[in-house]
Amino acid sequence: MFVCSCFGVTEAQVKQHAADGACTPRQIASACKAGTDCGGCVRRIQALLGRGACPRRELVEQGEAAVALAPRVELPEAA
Ligand code: FES
Repeated sequence: MFVCSCFGVTEAQVKQHAADGACTPRQIASACKAGTDCGGCVRRIQALLGRGACPRRELVEQGEAAVALAPRVELPEAA
């Protein structure tokens, strides 16, 4: 089923982009252009993302960090 008729993007493609790490409509647009023409599909993309299509969103809801934190770097004292 097509989500974005302007670019022929299917629901399965949006879910695959989400599984690959896209968690926002803007990130989906970067991956496949969906939502960048008439914008009529953006709410549908938001709905798909809101239903747990993004694995990182589930991690955040479980209390885990969505991205790895950079190790703390000790800076030398100023002279
Ligand atoms: S239907 Fe997706 S941009 Fe038009």
